[in-house]
Amino acid sequence: MAARQAQVEAALSRWVPAETPASLGEAMRYAVLDGGKRLRPLLVLAASEAVQGHGEAALRAACAVELIHAYSLVHDDLPCMDDDVLRRGKPTVHVRFGEAQALLAGDALQALAFDLLTPEGAGVPAAMQAELCRLLARAAGVQGMAGGQAIDLASVGKPLSEPELRGMHQLKTGALLLASVRMGAACGAAAPAARAALDDYGAAIGLAFQVIDDILDVTADSAQLGKTAGKDAAADKPTYVSLLGLPASQALASELHAQAHRALDGCGLPAVAHLRALADMVVQRKN
Ligand code: IPE
Ligand code: IPE
Ligand code: MG
Ligand code: MG
Ligand code: MG
Repeated sequence: MAARQAQVEAALSRWVPAETPASLGEAMRYAVLDGGKRLRPLLVLAASEAVQGHGEAALRAACAVELIHAYSLVHDDLPCMDDDVLRRGKPTVHVRFGEAQALLAGDALQALAFDLLTPEGAGVPAAMQAELCRLLARAAGVQGMAGGQAIDLASVGKPLSEPELRGMHQLKTGALLLASVRMGAACGAAAPAARAALDDYGAAIGLAFQVIDDILDVTADSAQLGKTAGKDAAADKPTYVSLLGLPASQALASELHAQAHRALDGCGLPAVAHLRALADMVVQRKN
């Protein structure tokens, strides 16, 4: 997947503008380029591969979802949210450029995501553009990432039940990962049963991803993570580790990993090796 990662890096560098009013592009490029595992773009491209999707649409969708993710990180790190100073091994955007510029860079990255999905001309069919926009908008908005972030902030210091915590994680993190898979699938044609299987896969890795994020916050150090370790307990956030402890959290991640593979077993699509590898990466990752 290294070649695909390189393709995504080049496309992001081309599409996130440097020449902008009041150096806003500098903060945007700082937030997006040189860092990040690019898991969401790789999921889009792997799901598109599984359905022999439209190449240009898939690359645009891959970058669009990464822009929404990058914006969510910039805002997540702001003092009014998690108040973090380190991200992707660098000072956070607001530390480097100030809070107002960080807020605006996030806003502009979000808008740019939808700009990328709606190119002029006949390159991407209009109905496909509309579906990609709908999937991304729903995953980023109040029933997705932003709604989940609101629950996260409202839950500081409160013990959540497992279903409540699961719901929060599914929204704040799972939704965008599931959307990555759905957007890749929307770049091609797949039978309803195959789409449903890809949905099951995306939902399983989406939740697994945040369970592992909760675990790494406790088990890894800041140098390894490129972000401040130990923040969840320090901020009194409910997490899988605080609710279930480490061994049961690890067991849940393993179960979700198995679920993701089982979903692919039954999907009837031939080219799912990259999706399988990405499921492995989600649970085996060290940062
Ligand atoms: C971190 O996401 C934020 C969460 C949703 C938990 P990633 O771990 O994918 O961050 P990058 O993109 O690799 O920096
Ligand atoms: C953030 O979850 C999820 C987002 C929508 C950005 P976290 O707050 O746990 O992410 P990190 O640990 O700061 O990357
Ligand atoms: Mg947060
Ligand atoms: Mg955070
Ligand atoms: Mg975290």
